[in-house]
Amino acid sequence: MIGSEVCVYFAQQGHQIIGLDNNQRAVFFGPQGDTRWNQKRLETTLKGYQHIELDIRDRNGVLALIEKIKPDAIVHTAAQPSHDRAAAIPFEDFDTNAVGTHNLLEAVRRYCPESPFVHMSTNKVYGDAPNSIALIEKETRWDYADLQYAEGIAENFTIDQSKHSIFGASKVAADIMVQEYGRYFNMPTCCLRGGCLTGPNHSGVELHGFLSYLIRCNLEGKEYKIYGYKGKQVRDNIHSLDVARFIEAFINAPRIAEVYNLGGGKNNSVSIIEAFKLVESISGIPQKFSYVNENRIGDHICYYSDLRKMQAHYPSWGITKDLKTTFEEIVESWEARLKA
Ligand SMILES: NC(=O)c1ccc[n+]([C@@H]2O[C@H](COP(=O)([O-])OP(=O)(O)OC[C@H]3O[C@@H](n4cnc5c(N)ncnc54)[C@H](O)[C@@H]3O)[C@@H](O)[C@H]2O)c1
Repeated sequence: MIGSEVCVYFAQQGHQIIGLDNNQRAVFFGPQGDTRWNQKRLETTLKGYQHIELDIRDRNGVLALIEKIKPDAIVHTAAQPSHDRAAAIPFEDFDTNAVGTHNLLEAVRRYCPESPFVHMSTNKVYGDAPNSIALIEKETRWDYADLQYAEGIAENFTIDQSKHSIFGASKVAADIMVQEYGRYFNMPTCCLRGGCLTGPNHSGVELHGFLSYLIRCNLEGKEYKIYGYKGKQVRDNIHSLDVARFIEAFINAPRIAEVYNLGGGKNNSVSIIEAFKLVESISGIPQKFSYVNENRIGDHICYYSDLRKMQAHYPSWGITKDLKTTFEEIVESWEARLKA
């Protein structure tokens, strides 16, 4: 999802793009996670786009490709992206997220070390430590009681000694290695610790892509399962366009070994039951749901990103797509896809 949005954005700026993917998402999630439709969309609609079918776990293949193309910038968004899936396939998860990232980093260090390397990390590197922040229960959501977090979670929050899930731990390994290649080899790397990244082209499935999946459930009249926390768990959502705009800002003025919490921030935060109301107001369809009294392991009760570091380093960047617009675009996209 994010990779394709970044391709579209940079192609629109006139860049030549090489997209690397092997549709592993269909292996991880089955036919519902298949991304070939999106690959075809890029190949048929983007000028200067070339698809390369390559597995990032293939170390020699990655080294040979980077040596050949020596890209001016690398945006690394390939991953096994789900907590729950990782527990079932821990080797594939670690080999993709940690080792695959390392393969790319080393290839870049050998053949184009000056090229900015942007890595999509995740806020799951903080594990369940955000759940130790004192909370208040409001009518439709949890929120931080501790005023230190009034603007959200900042990048200096601890990543240590908490439960991450197998996925979170493999992403920590990648995040630290990306930082290390920056600090140790003086390379322009950055980790973007994403919250909920979303957009109209997300193939959301139950285990990954909550907003896209929730909206699809609404439109199809399917039941959405809430896991614990009374449905008041809070996530901040950032539209993929604003993600791409930040990546562009970093590539144009790169820094060494940076880390940013990339999310929609407090203004784009929403709880599950608030999301039901918002989608119902757009589609006119009542949301069906059921409640499971047990939360997902390591799931955040309340998480929204403090965007102040990003804004301080890149003042021309800011959120341009608010929550309602993002919902409307996802509704429109699913309506079109479900009809097709
Ligand atoms: N979407 C979110 O809400 C979110 C939030 C935080 C972080 N992130 C991170 O952003 C990145 C992208 O997320 P996304 O939502 O676009 O996920 P996605 O599953 O839509 O995209 C990942 C892509 O990587 C490809 N891939 C997986 N394994 C591969 C391999 N071994 N070789 C080549 N390609 C492979 C998949 O086929 C898929 O197209 C991930 O690192 C994820 O952890 C996403």
